[in-house]
Amino acid sequence: MMKKKLGKKIILFIVIALVVMQFIPVTKPETKKDNPNDITKDFHVPQEIATTLKTSCYDCHSMETHYPWYSKVAPVKWMLFNHIEEGREHLNFSEWALLPKEDKLDALDEVTEVLEEGEMPLETYLIMHREAKLSEKQKEDIIIWAESYMEDIFASEPE
Ligand code: HEC
Repeated sequence: MMKKKLGKKIILFIVIALVVMQFIPVTKPETKKDNPNDITKDFHVPQEIATTLKTSCYDCHSMETHYPWYSKVAPVKWMLFNHIEEGREHLNFSEWALLPKEDKLDALDEVTEVLEEGEMPLETYLIMHREAKLSEKQKEDIIIWAESYMEDIFASEPE
């Protein structure tokens, strides 16, 4: 008897907590459709690479985030918004052309690193986005592309 009552109380508590959570205000990271400085507008980026970046990285590393239905539901949305904000802070492909030469080189170097280590896309993201998982071939292609792009930047772009 006692156990049953406690169980009900716990469930009620969880339900109330979930309802209350929905009313806690949080700012949803904004999105932008037209991004003239986007990396995919750069002639150094082949179509295939652009497509992979868009499928696997853009939700967190660009202004073109697609919000799924569960991004409306706390506490999931808190984690999601946090990943998007942090992801953009580290690397925002939509503002690529604005980066100084040094930052571009650093970013490309980090891209090769996270792919070699298998750190990106984030594991939690892949649970709901199977299509974003990179094959070995896709990883290699991005790494080879990033390295040759770095050489081009080194050789050509002014400060
Ligand atoms: C679900 C969101 C999400 C996705 C999808 C995602 N990232 Fe990230 N990324 C993050 C977050 C959050 C950080 C910052 C925290 C960290 O390093 O874990 C980050 C950091 C990075 C960094 C900087 C690492 C450093 O050491 O500073 C690079 C480079 C990066 N991501 C590349 C990528 C690439 C390339 C893809 C696609 C193949 C990708 N990410 C997909 C969320 C994401």
